[in-house]
Amino acid sequence: MNVEIRTETADDAAAVRNVNELAFGGDAEARLVEMLRAAHKAVISLVALHQNRLVGHILFSPITIASSPAHFRGLGLGPLAVLPEFQSKGIGSSLMLHGLEACRRNSYDLVVVLGHTKYYPRFGFLRAKDYGLDNEYKAEDTFMVLELQSGALQKLKGLVKYSPEFHLAAANGIDRQHTLVCVWRRNSRLVPVDPCRHCPGNFDCRIAVLLCCISDREICRLSIWQAVG
Ligand SMILES: CC(C)(COP(=O)(O)OP(=O)(O)OC[C@H]1O[C@@H](n2cnc3c(N)ncnc32)[C@H](O)[C@@H]1OP(=O)(O)O)[C@@H](O)C(=O)NCCC(=O)NCCS
Repeated sequence: MNVEIRTETADDAAAVRNVNELAFGGDAEARLVEMLRAAHKAVISLVALHQNRLVGHILFSPITIASSPAHFRGLGLGPLAVLPEFQSKGIGSSLMLHGLEACRRNSYDLVVVLGHTKYYPRFGFLRAKDYGLDNEYKAEDTFMVLELQSGALQKLKGLVKYSPEFHLAAANGIDRQHTLVCVWRRNSRLVPVDPCRHCPGNFDCRIAVLLCCISDREICRLSIWQAVG
């Protein structure tokens, strides 16, 4: 299939949203893309075009690794999406190869991914845990790494963290106008949470825990708190 791969432009935003929504069957990934873009963290974002139609998208954003040297530059891969009717035609692979090449060209040290164990190893990804890299999601085999600069994996060990936008997009507490909200679901009641420096650390809701984890850096600076149903 004849497919052109190029860098995403501002005009692609709506079509990129469409591809992610249809590929994943929901809008969490589309929202994530928009949040990363708004935060200038979509450092490599490529699209696939077939007959001028945008049919695929891949994005890389910065990660951190505990106790990495100051000059370390790593990326997280994701989301990667291809329109359902265009899947299994090599478009995902093409986006992967072009994307990884762009990462190498831009001198990144490594790329991590949380994804399918039957897909990413074909591009050289290895089980990250075997190289002393942990993740925040307790993923085992599905958390993988690809070394881009020779020797990088030997020097880097510890907890890999994606940008806070990953947690925010996964939570339901963000409305379509991008108003940041935080909810504390306890005994089936939704309660607005005070700035999380008061976090008692015993939230029983995954959403609240995730938001609470990043609140010191991001959310507490915002004044808009509301409960959502
Ligand atoms: C995953 C995805 C991006 C792959 O893109 P694609 O264009 O279909 O992939 P390619 O044509 O390059 O490769 C097709 C191969 O990938 C495999 N593949 C596709 N989706 C897969 C999945 N979810 N798990 C494992 N393998 C998968 C196919 O079985 C096929 O294998 P084969 O080459 O042995 O026949 C695409 O299927 C997609 O958008 N899926 C929904 C969103 C998603 O799951 N994204 C990845 C999140 S980790």
